[in-house]
Amino acid sequence: MSKKKKPSQPASSALSERVGSGLDRIDFLDEHAEPRADGHPIPMFLFILILMVMYASDMHLMANRGAFDARIYAPYSNEDELANDKPVDPVAEKRKQGKKVYESACVACHQSSGSGLPGQFPPLAGSDWVQTDGANRVIRIVLSGAQGPITVSGMAFNNLMPPVGASLSDTNIADVLTYVRSEWGNKAPAVTPEQVKAVRTEIKDRGPWTPEELLKVPLK
Ligand code: HEC
Repeated sequence: MSKKKKPSQPASSALSERVGSGLDRIDFLDEHAEPRADGHPIPMFLFILILMVMYASDMHLMANRGAFDARIYAPYSNEDELANDKPVDPVAEKRKQGKKVYESACVACHQSSGSGLPGQFPPLAGSDWVQTDGANRVIRIVLSGAQGPITVSGMAFNNLMPPVGASLSDTNIADVLTYVRSEWGNKAPAVTPEQVKAVRTEIKDRGPWTPEELLKVPLK
């Protein structure tokens, strides 16, 4: 390359002088620099050794990670700690237990869909007897049964429900009612074993309720 052309401007400017001399030096290097032969690349064996050490440490870590689980990180150090801190939904648990009770104590008459059987067993799904704010009446029905003309969702029934709850624990009854009151689109608050216990103590042993009697029982 012949870039030896000096700036055409008057050489009195300090800048153009510097530029000029710079170009000269580049030309000089281009023409005369020799290839350097004294470089020291990393020896290949060292390179391979480092790779092997990295591989071995990784294998060691994978084999000896103990109880570490990639899905568990600070502030937890193991699965139990994490499980203990997970929020549990108490109502979901009661509903789960309640479904079991329902399937053994109520399903034969009221059916798994809660729809009952026309003319024989009234529906629990959508029932006004079930979806009350307080649970005073439904607890009584389950504990002692019901008998006599009853209207549920506009349909008339006149049959007998035995005292299925007499042999169930307070917790079982609370759970099954919590389930029935929140299943099939029903919306009513959960029932506690304490509520059941209070009613059981109050009514003692007695025969099935007539719907008429039940309507006189305050809801709360
Ligand atoms: C042997 C059949 C039978 C079983 C088992 C039974 N019931 Fe009933 N249930 C009836 C009948 C029949 C009536 C209506 C009684 C009447 O005609 O006065 C009724 C009425 C009801 C009512 C009020 C009306 C309504 O439909 O809302 C509720 C609430 C109820 N049952 C809940 C339950 C629950 C909860 C269980 C299980 C713990 C249960 N029953 C088990 C037959 C049964």
